[in-house]
Amino acid sequence: MYIFKAAVVGAGTMGGEIAQVITYAGLPVVLKDIDQAMLDRGMAKARAIYQRRVDKGKMSAGDMQAKLDLITPTLTYDGFEDVDIVIEAVPEQMSIKRAVFKELEEVCPAETIFASNTSALSISEMGAATRKPHKVIGMHFFNPASVMKLVEVIPGLDTSQETVDDVVMFAETLRKIPVVVQECPGFLVNRLLMPYLNEATKALEEGAATATEIDQAIVAWGMPMGPFTLMDMLGLDVCAHVGAYLYSEYGERMSPAPLFAKLVEAGRLGEKSGAGFYDHPGGESETVAAMIRELQESGQVPTGTPFSAERLMFPLINEAALCVQENIASLTDIDMSMVAGTGMTYGGERIGPLAIADKIGLDVVVATLETLAEQLGPRFRPSRPLKLRVRAGHLGVKTGKGFHEYA
Ligand code: 3HC
Repeated sequence: MYIFKAAVVGAGTMGGEIAQVITYAGLPVVLKDIDQAMLDRGMAKARAIYQRRVDKGKMSAGDMQAKLDLITPTLTYDGFEDVDIVIEAVPEQMSIKRAVFKELEEVCPAETIFASNTSALSISEMGAATRKPHKVIGMHFFNPASVMKLVEVIPGLDTSQETVDDVVMFAETLRKIPVVVQECPGFLVNRLLMPYLNEATKALEEGAATATEIDQAIVAWGMPMGPFTLMDMLGLDVCAHVGAYLYSEYGERMSPAPLFAKLVEAGRLGEKSGAGFYDHPGGESETVAAMIRELQESGQVPTGTPFSAERLMFPLINEAALCVQENIASLTDIDMSMVAGTGMTYGGERIGPLAIADKIGLDVVVATLETLAEQLGPRFRPSRPLKLRVRAGHLGVKTGKGFHEYA
């Protein structure tokens, strides 16, 4: 089924960006919210993205207006009677998502695909709340959606192959790179990112290094932005929510750093609220430093732990290895997703975590994780697929075989 018309439910920043992406490909989109202020914010976001292109001379003001005219902002379900796909980008609560799909069933044609832009929640569970779980699927964009090339396509237990094929083709129409990912909490990219972002926060609250030092070390490693700059961009409420969900599903190795909750409670949600790990503007924050002192003095977090880029990056690699074992995606797709979804590079090359581990040497990765496990706890224990390869002599580039094969 070709998608001629789309709808996005939940305006705001992400909804506005997704609407921009859809109209950039020349397709009309209905953008719905229940709150006029959110709708305005979504439209302003789409306009701002086009305006940047106009300012850079990449687009005329007339073309910008023609694209913006493809968006129909609405507070009702008018215009939903002939949409081929709806992407929901409403708050990350299963009850809200299920309620939205129930409403959509009353206003959309039976064949309309219901896609969720959820960061982590179960697609099968959302599908089960509808009369057509074969038409329910995950379509997960990355922030900023207008720039990041990756779209994770996540079939639930009852999603039909036809729906998967239609959404893959739709993502390609949007000039994105679709990767089909098996359903698991956090899917692929957030599942890999979360241990890394969490570890960055643990290193910070334990006084191992400052936010700026950690961000700089990670940029030097090859990520386009450091973890605190990224979390402030994503929103700490989003990160805390994904983190709590992954902890509830995967257990101890994802146990969230206490600083997340403190920052969210204090309303420090990142750039959107003017302050997160950093002040915006201003940088390093005295308020955050005081929160960290309080956590340390009350004995809620250890102090004097070591910092290295490996402390953050190797848990990500360890989780990628688990995804190989669980067949969450192919080896190549795991690597490509991290490159297209997070801009990951290493040694000047655009390569993903498994190829990076191959370059470093899987024996070195395992030995480093074992040392980190002794120093910092069992969350660093090397995963079986890593150890298995080391025992079999598949050490990476140096032996011609690791996760990938080398000529
Ligand atoms: N919104 C819209 N467009 C933006 C933008 C923003 N916030 N920031 C940058 N851009 C655009 C620019 O206009 C420019 O467009 P052009 O190529 O058409 O001129 C392009 O992006 C490159 O911008 P810059 O050269 O100014 O900036 P950088 O080279 O520093 O790149 C970045 C910015 C693309 C954001 C880069 O730093 C990056 O890739 N960061 C990592 C982001 C990431 O990891 N995202 C995934 C997070 S996980 C997630 O979203 C999942 C969710 O469920 C939580």
